[in-house]
Amino acid sequence: MIDQFGRSIDYLRLSVTERCTLRCTYCRVEEGICPKAAELSADEYARIGKACARLGIHKVRITGGEPLLRKDILEIIQKLSAIDAITEITMTTNAQQLAGRANALKEAGLKRLNISLDTLDAAKYHEMTGGELSTVLSAIDEAIEAQLLPLKINTVIVKGKNDDEVDDLMALAKERPIEVRFIELMPIGALGQNDAMRVNNDVLIAARPFLQPLPPCYPGQPARDYAVDGYMGRVGFISPLSHKFCASCNRIRVMSDGKIRPCLGSNMEIETKEALASKDDEVLLETIRNAIYHKPDGHHFNTGFISEKNMSRIGG
Ligand code: 5AD
Ligand code: SF4
Repeated sequence: MIDQFGRSIDYLRLSVTERCTLRCTYCRVEEGICPKAAELSADEYARIGKACARLGIHKVRITGGEPLLRKDILEIIQKLSAIDAITEITMTTNAQQLAGRANALKEAGLKRLNISLDTLDAAKYHEMTGGELSTVLSAIDEAIEAQLLPLKINTVIVKGKNDDEVDDLMALAKERPIEVRFIELMPIGALGQNDAMRVNNDVLIAARPFLQPLPPCYPGQPARDYAVDGYMGRVGFISPLSHKFCASCNRIRVMSDGKIRPCLGSNMEIETKEALASKDDEVLLETIRNAIYHKPDGHHFNTGFISEKNMSRIGG
């Protein structure tokens, strides 16, 4: 459907848990796995998916926290993929729990994966996230093997941490059918508020004249894509601060407790508890319609917006 600013909303980002096994320094502050916050059942997410589909949503990305921590993740995917109008189901994962599961995810209806990876140095990976680099690297191979393609790698560059690894990270796409995407650090979560940590993607692009601009895969896509001579895959830059793309935003978010967050960069949230309890799907439909219509114009990251929640709670 069309929101109050004339944007066509056809993409749902559905968080299925706030829990995460990692603690990426810019995302989380707590130690260990977060306490289990309210999570909906697979059936409740499916009800939300159905209502969204009736409102013109075609694509669903499952996020978290870490979605693979849900024991019923296959059931969630199956139920969403049974909805006719939903033509693409994808997932963002840190890949720490992916081993041995890629084929089952594909069979359940998952089309492709985005894997978060910020460094290729095992010690640094452990320091930045608390996880194991080798697990992510073998998960990338397993996902490619399972044809969860095109696979995307999401990388957040943090000044002084991993800004010396941009070329090495890009090279992951050299012999693999993947896209490595550099996402500007957003002022969400503790570290993200620190401007000194931020790297402007324009600086990374300007320093690499070998990057050849590609047309967007669909109009208004957030990433600017580039080809590199001799690379099987491609490189992308998502630049919410230096190239604000809110005017063509096509998405809403639903958090794991069912609350709708129409814009990542605005603290506006809409409760769905009563609508879900009412069992009347028309009530839920109206609640979501209202939330989509009132989607804010965009983020105010450049003018001091402070997110009340970090990314693992909102859904990455
Ligand atoms: N800015 C940009 N990206 C972030 N992520 C988490 N916090 C931030 C932030 N402040 C990313 C992670 C992961 C995805 C879930 O969200 O790196 O790729
Ligand atoms: Fe977990 Fe993703 Fe946040 Fe890292 S960025 S702590 S993997 S939710």
